[in-house]
Amino acid sequence: RARRIVASALLPLALAACAAGNARVPAQQVAPAAPGAASVGDSVVPGSGNGGYDVQHYDLDLKITPQAHPAVAGTTTITATATQALSRFDLDLTGLDVTKVTIGGVSAAHGRVPGKLVVTPPKPIAKGGSFTVAVTYSGDPKAVDDHLLGRYGWIRTGDGVFTGDEPDGAHSWFPGNDHPSDKATFGFRITVPRGLTAVANGELAGTTTSGDAVTYTWRERDPMATYLAMVDVGRFKVRSGHTPGGVPVYVAADSSVDQAGLDSLYADTVKITDAWAKLFGPYPFTSTGGVVDNAPVQFALETQTRPEYIAGMAAMPTVVAHELSHQWFGDSVSVTRWSDMWLNEGFATYAEWMWGERENPADTVQSQFDSRYAQAGSDLWNIPPAAPGRTALFGRSVYDRGAMALHALRKKVGDQRFFAILRAWTTEHRHGNATTAQFTALAQRVSGMDLRHLFQVWLYDRGRPANW
Ligand code: ARG
Ligand code: ZN
Repeated sequence: RARRIVASALLPLALAACAAGNARVPAQQVAPAAPGAASVGDSVVPGSGNGGYDVQHYDLDLKITPQAHPAVAGTTTITATATQALSRFDLDLTGLDVTKVTIGGVSAAHGRVPGKLVVTPPKPIAKGGSFTVAVTYSGDPKAVDDHLLGRYGWIRTGDGVFTGDEPDGAHSWFPGNDHPSDKATFGFRITVPRGLTAVANGELAGTTTSGDAVTYTWRERDPMATYLAMVDVGRFKVRSGHTPGGVPVYVAADSSVDQAGLDSLYADTVKITDAWAKLFGPYPFTSTGGVVDNAPVQFALETQTRPEYIAGMAAMPTVVAHELSHQWFGDSVSVTRWSDMWLNEGFATYAEWMWGERENPADTVQSQFDSRYAQAGSDLWNIPPAAPGRTALFGRSVYDRGAMALHALRKKVGDQRFFAILRAWTTEHRHGNATTAQFTALAQRVSGMDLRHLFQVWLYDRGRPANW
């Protein structure tokens, strides 16, 4: 991240200051306060993310009345650390009316430019300083309709709302640093009309009723990328318990899903969470589960601890296996930039193939590889999985050729080394961020083999690999 580079350039100065027994650093030696960068410079989501600060925690205190105006009203409070002396900084936010911004409880000037809320603190924030910015707002979030990525973000359902924000829909309903390179813990206080349930990430910490409104408090205690934050509101049936391996489970389903549908998602979630923990390393979060809703979208999403499904997908164990594998690959170990998406989707597709083989031994991972390898002239070969651009972010190369790259790796190094590589990956980057270069270096180190040619032809080159 650019802001880390800025921080390390100033580090010697900071160390010198410490060595001098906290002597005040003379003013002229301190970098003058400047505005934080207006984006992180990720070409897949131009404009998203911001420089100058690092978020530690989001607290969303929102009243959500999905079928009325305003659909959202409340305050999002962000705790962050300044990574430079800040005269001003941006938060990602699209639409919505902001009525008040405070920093440390004191009113701050604010303005809007497209996609951003620009905040000017009453006095500059010192580098390294921790600060709390509270944004009070209301309005009707709009779904994102993107010609390349489809419809995502704030999706109204028959009785509520479903939020599926990958890659950059989160800032259509809460302000923040909307890029996976800045992960933070989350708290949610979601107030909904009585009769509706609000489901979010992590664990339910309490439910309180006041008049005809109910407030659901959820807490996600592990770092989470903004696109994985989820609030799903509807008329839900709920089932909770623990896996045999000891992970708390919370599953919810829209009233249009019957009890058998809820029970099968519950059973698959329990079985797959524990199975993947044996293969990929300890489950990285404090609970598991899922939500099935009747949202008019065509995807499931690996929202942290609690993937979101549409009914047809929740009923497919391979889809559940895919979304739950993302808890390790994508959610715990997150991309640093979106062009490394195959680290999420190639791995989850590979997990999907492995689950298919467990359920039906005739449906082998090898046959998944072979049938795709036989295809000529497809996107698989035109687009390198490690450089898909925005156009092919959710395309077949990222998903299928990414999975094929892993299978090629497995065949080359053998099962024992392959699964050791996966476990080293989930252990070394647990709750963090990583890149393709870090994966290939790790694979070489753990296997003790030279894999440069294999990764070159499978991840970076155009054309169907012929030998590796
Ligand atoms: N990550 C999701 C999955 O693994 C796909 C999300 C698709 N998102 C979108 N905006 N089309 O299935
Ligand atoms: Zn996926």
